[in-house]
Amino acid sequence: MPVLAVLGAHWGDEGKGKIAAALSRDAHVCARFQGGPNAAHSVLAPGRTEPWVLRMVPSGILSGAVGVVGGGCVIEPRMLLNEVAALRAAFPDVTDRLRVSLRAHVITAEHREADRSGSGVGSTRMGVGLAYRDKAARTGLRVRDLLAGGDRLPADLRPVAEEFADLLGGCCVDEVTYLRDRLDAGARVVAEGAQGSRLDLDHGDYPYVTSSNTTVGAVLTGLGVGPRDIASVLLVTPAYVTKVGGGELPSRLYGELNAELQERGEELDRATDLMRDTGWLDVGWLRAACRLNQADGIVMTKFDVLAGFPSIGLYDEDRNPAVRMVPGWSAEDVATASGGSEAPYIAAYLAEVERRCATPVVAAGRGQGLDDWWWRG
Ligand code: GTP
Repeated sequence: MPVLAVLGAHWGDEGKGKIAAALSRDAHVCARFQGGPNAAHSVLAPGRTEPWVLRMVPSGILSGAVGVVGGGCVIEPRMLLNEVAALRAAFPDVTDRLRVSLRAHVITAEHREADRSGSGVGSTRMGVGLAYRDKAARTGLRVRDLLAGGDRLPADLRPVAEEFADLLGGCCVDEVTYLRDRLDAGARVVAEGAQGSRLDLDHGDYPYVTSSNTTVGAVLTGLGVGPRDIASVLLVTPAYVTKVGGGELPSRLYGELNAELQERGEELDRATDLMRDTGWLDVGWLRAACRLNQADGIVMTKFDVLAGFPSIGLYDEDRNPAVRMVPGWSAEDVATASGGSEAPYIAAYLAEVERRCATPVVAAGRGQGLDDWWWRG
């Protein structure tokens, strides 16, 4: 049962990229199962000053794993080619370690243009939602069509289709067979989610959702693995929440607190170029997301961003009052925390989250770097 699912708890930007890349050090495969270039996973690898920004290639590629872009994903061929070209400079074997599902759907110029001119519910305007719309309407183009070329392809895709076939044709596979064979041979697979549970097409804050399922069931449909393949589900949440785009942020902060969190957390959304709104951790939603995904553990990132705040809020709309303020922690508390030893206020905060969510917090993050986190077990 060796699939470890790494899912987002809220609206994305939780730090799944870093966690998936770190856990992929002990895995053979890292697979994306939904979403497209609207997700931008940032991973600051050791020895680098600039993070890798991966939109379609799974983050585990940075850790030596094979990266699988599953059939539940949509791809933009030009952007994927550019992403692979950028990676090749540091990882000459990148195409040997990349697999792209023949079932994945393709974003066309028509999708992008219609998305740019449409009203789009919080859309990143990359045509992702429209590619999924055509998939559901059974009129979409798939990677297998891109490779086949010919008249079925819109004229704008033909030149890129040839380049794609030349450079990435050898990476395109039936990922269901590939993964089944690897799993049966004992491989460990990290399934890397994009966006978060609150954006799930069925279970999120409809209509302010993304066009794919982001919760645990999508691991099965997006990769063609079975429920018994999933060994463990980790839900990634920051210690405060952020959101960009339409819809409500129930625990939203305003004024100086919001501005300070935006600045410290560098909350500029790369996909839309907008500053993300910030809020206290929504524990009520986190509890619901743990239940929905049957999470085995929570990974809580961004403890460093909250360091120095005298008190920190836990928001839970099932309670009266909704916000409970608890004492904060210092930068030194965060820097020295380890599995065996945490400063009292960090330990108390985490114990409260665990109690309210009935789920253990198994790891915590303290910076952007791939090694900036501690295991709690
Ligand atoms: P989406 O699927 O696009 O929503 O993204 P994601 O959840 O993978 O988020 P991403 O990897 O882009 O992480 C968001 C940002 O948080 C990135 O800039 C990360 O480097 C950063 N990050 C991750 N963990 C931590 C942490 O513990 N502390 C700090 N300060 N930043 C972190």
